[in-house]
Amino acid sequence: DASDIEKGTYPHYMLKEIDEQPLVMRKIIQTYQNEQGELTIAPEIINAMNDSDRVYIIAAGTSYHAGLVGKQFIEKIAKIPVEVHVASEFGYNMPLLSDKPLFIFISQSGETADSRAVLVSVKELGHRTLTITNVPGSTLSREADYTLLLHAGPEIAVASTKAYTAQLAVLSILAEVTAKSRNYTLGFDLVHELGIVANAMEVLCDSKELIEHISREFLSVTRNAFFIGRSVDHYVGLEGALKLKEISYIQAEGFAGGELKHGTIALIEEGTPIIALATQESVNLSIRGNVKEVVARGANPCIISMKGLEMDEDSFVIPEVHELLTPLISVIPMQLIAYYAALHRDCDVDKPRNLAKSVTVE
Ligand code: AGP
Repeated sequence: DASDIEKGTYPHYMLKEIDEQPLVMRKIIQTYQNEQGELTIAPEIINAMNDSDRVYIIAAGTSYHAGLVGKQFIEKIAKIPVEVHVASEFGYNMPLLSDKPLFIFISQSGETADSRAVLVSVKELGHRTLTITNVPGSTLSREADYTLLLHAGPEIAVASTKAYTAQLAVLSILAEVTAKSRNYTLGFDLVHELGIVANAMEVLCDSKELIEHISREFLSVTRNAFFIGRSVDHYVGLEGALKLKEISYIQAEGFAGGELKHGTIALIEEGTPIIALATQESVNLSIRGNVKEVVARGANPCIISMKGLEMDEDSFVIPEVHELLTPLISVIPMQLIAYYAALHRDCDVDKPRNLAKSVTVE
């Protein structure tokens, strides 16, 4: 549909695509539901999940970050062990594979050459493959045994946004349907929880002014920035750092809170921006301990927490969603912070230097 790829009144595709996330979420819930309102996935894919003793997720960039969160979904919900690998590294030191591996390729474009190289080599070994992609008929989709589509609509901006949240939603559905096929009791209704996520996304997309202000306050005059978090917040921090560096050219790194003391804390100077995520009750106090450590060394902290875990000093509070699903919404302030940082620095938001939308060379 040509209208999908018009910017309309938006100044940039990236902002349009960020705003489309609640809609994409609802589209995914709808598309993956059967007439009884249950989530459903082609039985041959669920059989492939159930036949495997270990899942290997292969991806690059933002899709790799989605894979890190996807591992949590599959291990916690479907109880199948998962390894996540950066596609370009996989070939050098191929891990000792399990007896019955299933390979999942996560790729928005379905054209990433690094991922395709792994697909070709594991197919030669006779292993089963599933591609999760936004583009039907893409190379990775055609060449894998099975495909799950993201239904996110065309993503034009080089910085991936709606594809990431769509990847997480589809991975959570894959984990849920697999778990149900094994008669596991889940303790939550994923359709309902993803609906709450879609509503929370809307609230966040309506909070642009506050996030623009935060971005200006923390990032307008800095050469670098650090993202810290523990547990899944760490993975969202990695994505936040990637978003910021690729479009604003601020040198940004994501670190696990507990790793700071093992080296990175040496980089903290007066005014160094630290973006800390606090969406997980189990690590709320420890991440706040990390914030204290960096503040004591002069850092300028921006704490993004989830409702129910917030404290007075927090800069931004995201609405409450199921604790497994927080990455689907905590990433939105990360996307918007990067967007506004790039805008304030007059960067070409949709077409950052040196980058292509799909990387078709190894
Ligand atoms: C993210 O903002 C990127 N531009 C990039 O990291 C991207 O996610 C990566 O190249 C993988 O692309 P794919 O999902 O199309 O395979």
